[in-house]
Amino acid sequence: MVATPPTAPSQDALFQDEPFETIAAISEAVQACRRCDLWRHATQGVAGEGPATAALMFVGEQPGDLEDLRGRPFVGPAGEVFDRALARAGIDREACYVTNAVKHFKHELRGKRRLHKTPNASEAKACRWWLEQERRLVKPRLIVALGATAAASVFGRPVAVLKTRGQAIRLPDGSQAMTTVHPSYLLRLPDDAARQAGFKAFVDDLVAAKAVAARSSSVHARHGN
Ligand code: URA
Repeated sequence: MVATPPTAPSQDALFQDEPFETIAAISEAVQACRRCDLWRHATQGVAGEGPATAALMFVGEQPGDLEDLRGRPFVGPAGEVFDRALARAGIDREACYVTNAVKHFKHELRGKRRLHKTPNASEAKACRWWLEQERRLVKPRLIVALGATAAASVFGRPVAVLKTRGQAIRLPDGSQAMTTVHPSYLLRLPDDAARQAGFKAFVDDLVAAKAVAARSSSVHARHGN
């Protein structure tokens, strides 16, 4: 669905203290977000999707061109790599919650093309509030941060992704998180051999993530919801 960004900010969305009760409510509220200026040039906000009881949450960087147009995370070229890797790791995407650290597409125009621009630290920081709402609702057994922007948002500090990848780390709030590379990184590798090795290492990380989620107890079960 292509939504027209609303012109007036919703104070409810900006200052809500109560936890959101559904993913749909988060998704709707994201459309009114004015926490930074990225909404101005985006088609719509792209919140996460997946079941609110997902054991695994995947966090990417920000929606790309297709994600911005379709209103769904990871449905473009990086999403194809992600889907292939999930399938190879034996993970059902439908059972996972998939989202991004930043909910609006940051880009620059080159002719008619919209070229991805990495969100800066203040944009990522402003958008972290939304990721917290998603984490509060989903309470995944494990959060997998895809790439450096996601890792900084999930961990609340810069993380050396290539050094820490594939290891589950306990966060101060009791949740667990892991880093791995972003699927776009695999698309940028210089040759076939590097891409194959990179893809295999990515799948290995996803297999490790699946194992951690399988042996961790469900926060929903512990909280009786
Ligand atoms: N890259 C991301 O980080 N997220 C998407 O949804 C698509 C591409």
